[in-house]
Amino acid sequence: MNILLTGGAGYIGTHTCVAFQEQGHAVIVIDNLCNSRAVSLTRVEEITGKPVTFYPLDLRDRAGVQPVFERHPVDAVVHFAGLKSVAESVERPLMYYQNNIDATLALCDVMKHHGVKNLVFSSSATVYGNPETVPIKEDAPTAPFNPYGRSKRFIEEILTDLHQSDSSWNIALLRYFNPVGAHPCGRIGEDPSGVPNNLMPYISQVAVGKLPELMVFGDDYPTPDGTGVRDYIHVMDLAEGHVRALEKIISGSGLVTYNLGTGKGCSVREIIAAFEKASGRRIPVKISGRRPGDVPAYYADPSLAEKELNWRAIRGIDEMCADAWRWQSMNPAGYGETG
Ligand code: NAD
Ligand code: WQD
Repeated sequence: MNILLTGGAGYIGTHTCVAFQEQGHAVIVIDNLCNSRAVSLTRVEEITGKPVTFYPLDLRDRAGVQPVFERHPVDAVVHFAGLKSVAESVERPLMYYQNNIDATLALCDVMKHHGVKNLVFSSSATVYGNPETVPIKEDAPTAPFNPYGRSKRFIEEILTDLHQSDSSWNIALLRYFNPVGAHPCGRIGEDPSGVPNNLMPYISQVAVGKLPELMVFGDDYPTPDGTGVRDYIHVMDLAEGHVRALEKIISGSGLVTYNLGTGKGCSVREIIAAFEKASGRRIPVKISGRRPGDVPAYYADPSLAEKELNWRAIRGIDEMCADAWRWQSMNPAGYGETG
């Protein structure tokens, strides 16, 4: 099949390009490179030995995107493109709503015009807000509490309305938990700009000596060791989840929603210990206050994806840390140094 990946030059997109190409699909990428580098796609080509067709376009540029659909018989779209920093979304909500929502509206418009009605959307576990209970099932109430999370929830609702208006659309809303790790070859991985917000890239940069110490945001949560608990999922497991979700929608699924997580919660302290083991480096740590907006614990109930997609995350926390460390130690400046 011909699969168009919006935001395909980014962290999850590049790993998913590899997974699709390894299944024999052709990939076409649209990305405006606002949070990525084109060299990431060259690395994908090196890994798979297959070409990636790349269009450096903003998805909101309908006139630019139209010809891509004219040139390629697109069978399905996987829509990763979006801004994803929670903190930035609080400071610049309009930019987040404009980018994430306008891009989705423009994409759906062009897809509709070309009769392409198979779509996989990158949503987030963030839509659940502070869950009443864990593990979280897909039918749990949604209550995102920052503009980023709300942009994801609004898009889910827009896509639900679209499907309601025309049931020939097949749409998968994938709610990712905490994606970490990298392709095991160490050539592609997460390359945050500036100081990382998220735990795994922060620890990686401490381990490689770019940052002096890790601040642990609170050790007084009602969790087994007092630190925050999350459901970390290896990015290659996540990528393979997209392959299964695509197979599902192509079979005529209608609108479906799946959690993509492991089902296991892991604390900050457990991640630090696993990373120290994987890297052989000690991670200096300082306990600081809780980070505003953090919830104590959340992890997925991934059983619906297992039942309906025949997919399950198989890589554990040691493999996640080993692969994150390989990427970081082979590319201390991310794509910047060797690109
Ligand atoms: P990323 O920033 O690495 O990738 C997103 C890509 O989209 C980037 O390459 C960026 O340049 C591109 N992009 C952004 N706006 C665009 C636009 N208007 N037009 C064209 N390209 C545009 O992020 P990622 O971690 O790979 O995340 C991919 C998707 O998954 C995002 O939608 C994100 O919100 C979602 N998600 C990510 C996580 C996570 O922790 N990484 C968790 C849940 C959901
Ligand atoms: C994990 C744990 C922190 C950094 C975010 C987004 C979410 C989703 C995934 C896109 C928490 C602790 C972190 C640090 C720390 N993204 N921590 N020191 O907050 O669960 O989720 O990424 O959809 O929307 O909110 O991930 O990696 O930032 O934090 O102690 O320097 O690590 O308090 O317990 P989070 P994270």
